[in-house]
Amino acid sequence: MAVTTPDDPALAPGSAPVPSVEEPPATQPVAWRHRHLLDVDVLTTAEIDLVMRTTDAMAEVLARPIPKVPALRGTAVTILFYEASTRTRVSFEVAAKNLSADVVNITASASSVTKGESLVDTVRTIEALGADVLVMRHERSGSPYLAASVFGGSVLNGGDGWHAHPTQALLDLYTLRSRFGGSLAGRKVVIVGDILHSRVARSNIWTLTAAGAELWLCGPSTLLRGFEAWAARGAGGRSFTVTSDLGAALDGADVVMALRIQKERMAGGLLPSLREYAARYGITRERLAAASPDVVIMHPGPMNEGVEIAADVAIDPRSVITDQVTNGVAVRMALLYLLAGARERRP
Ligand code: CP
Repeated sequence: MAVTTPDDPALAPGSAPVPSVEEPPATQPVAWRHRHLLDVDVLTTAEIDLVMRTTDAMAEVLARPIPKVPALRGTAVTILFYEASTRTRVSFEVAAKNLSADVVNITASASSVTKGESLVDTVRTIEALGADVLVMRHERSGSPYLAASVFGGSVLNGGDGWHAHPTQALLDLYTLRSRFGGSLAGRKVVIVGDILHSRVARSNIWTLTAAGAELWLCGPSTLLRGFEAWAARGAGGRSFTVTSDLGAALDGADVVMALRIQKERMAGGLLPSLREYAARYGITRERLAAASPDVVIMHPGPMNEGVEIAADVAIDPRSVITDQVTNGVAVRMALLYLLAGARERRP
């Protein structure tokens, strides 16, 4: 894999991009040391900050008339999704193409997976076909770790089962930092919904607490199982609150993130009905009156409007749901770029 140096010095491989050449960072630059990105729990706060600063540089690229740099010219990126996706899959493809990578898309349902090929054999085949970077989504938690154990290049997790969605957590963090002038310290962030089945919530616990947010997780007790024990242990020593009391959670909230009620994962009868959920936990304008007047409304998508979030709340002027989608491209460009730089430095 050849990672070429684009004209922009802020995008030189292996360097820590800076917001502006006139304004170097106050702290020592941090080198990216990860070959894969499988979850955010391995990232230090300095590394998360590096992702954020690199994303700023990518956002500058995206603001150009032609939003393309040659940073990943000669790099082959394969996108392998075993589960449906619009935002993650498309934004990874756009991100890789903006960096001039060669991109191949594989949908498992149209591949030899349908003939019984295993994940390991599929990954080995993709590597034999020349892939340097594998972006994957899988319905089974831990699948990207198995892929990383046999793949010679870098693996980027686009979501695995209930376990992790690292790029979503990083784009959520980027979106919030942009809204709050770069710092979430002391901001009350409430995630409401199907926490139990949510890889978005699990990854956001790490990044939002690392950013200093006062994090609350809220939902029916059946959809919070296990999280009280996690909260008692803390995430990397950082605390968060778990509650079924939506009124207490929304009181004075700076951010409310609604999570999808995952109908496909509700076979176990964890809710009486979707109507009951909407009546007790759906995010409506009336309920948001208890939050800060400037509350930031988020949803990772896809949404069930009228269930976890009212249709008018989703398009409220305080909603940043489309910003989340847009920022996904810059964040994924940053991560592809950082992983490529780390691969270049490997002996
Ligand atoms: N947020 C998210 O992962 O959306 P997709 O399933 O459309 O990728």
